[in-house]
Amino acid sequence: MGKIICVIGNKGGTGKTTISHMLAHGLGLFGMRAVAVLTDELRDKLSKVNRTYLPFDARSPDQLAVAAARLRATEGWIGVIDGGGNRPDIDRKLAAMSDLVLLPFRDSHEDMRTVSRDLAHFPQAWALPSQWPTNLWAANVATRSIDSQMAIHKDRILAPSYALSASKLLLMNEAPASLPRPLNNAAREIALQALELLGIPAPETTWLTPQARVAGDPRSAFGAMPGSVSAPSILHA
Ligand SMILES: Nc1ncnc2c1ncn2[C@@H]1O[C@H](COP(=O)(O)OP(=O)(O)OP(=O)(O)O)[C@@H](O)[C@H]1O
Ligand SMILES: [Mg+2]
Repeated sequence: MGKIICVIGNKGGTGKTTISHMLAHGLGLFGMRAVAVLTDELRDKLSKVNRTYLPFDARSPDQLAVAAARLRATEGWIGVIDGGGNRPDIDRKLAAMSDLVLLPFRDSHEDMRTVSRDLAHFPQAWALPSQWPTNLWAANVATRSIDSQMAIHKDRILAPSYALSASKLLLMNEAPASLPRPLNNAAREIALQALELLGIPAPETTWLTPQARVAGDPRSAFGAMPGSVSAPSILHA
């Protein structure tokens, strides 16, 4: 039986589509069979050219039902459903059909208030810091914002996905034939976290090199910085 992950949340622009594709890409890089499921009627389906995963068009309820049924029936496949902003009813349905619910949010009090409400709504969901600042000062401010705005949810916040301009390459209709290593590593990081939460054993991670590790980087309360890699970890207070 396959697994279904949904990336949802009430706020627009938090990075749902980007995270969905990075996660599917990261799973694909690990040799796993992943599908990025599009549900947002306002977006176009992307070509599968040069992708390590399969984009699937599920913009109609019928197509979504087909996608879910196929994923459920197929051992080893993982579907990543990309929600759309401001669709609470659809989010509820997507969460109900998913094994893992991810709620991206950015470094803003508005996003943090919204994701806090979503976390209360979806008790099984995890908040995923998205487009997170890489600048030391900004990262410290972001950490303080989490402390003040999301203290009661702190044990449900994952390690962040950092701001990475290369992430937009995955949202091109045809992805480039080769992608920058920082993007691949960031995609693997998201995939490892998702696999850990799904209880799926992590794949062979020989791509981890000692040089690439930035253990306990003081610039972030969450872990390593972009372009580096670390073991997946869930942020606990
Ligand atoms: N990690 C990142 N680094 C840099 N830019 C990012 C990152 N993630 C997303 N972005 C940018 O932020 C914008 C919004 O991202 P995205 O479309 O993924 O959000 P969304 O939540 O899917 O939006 P919507 O609610 O409209 O569906 C895009 O321009 C995207 O390129
Ligand atoms: Mg989107």
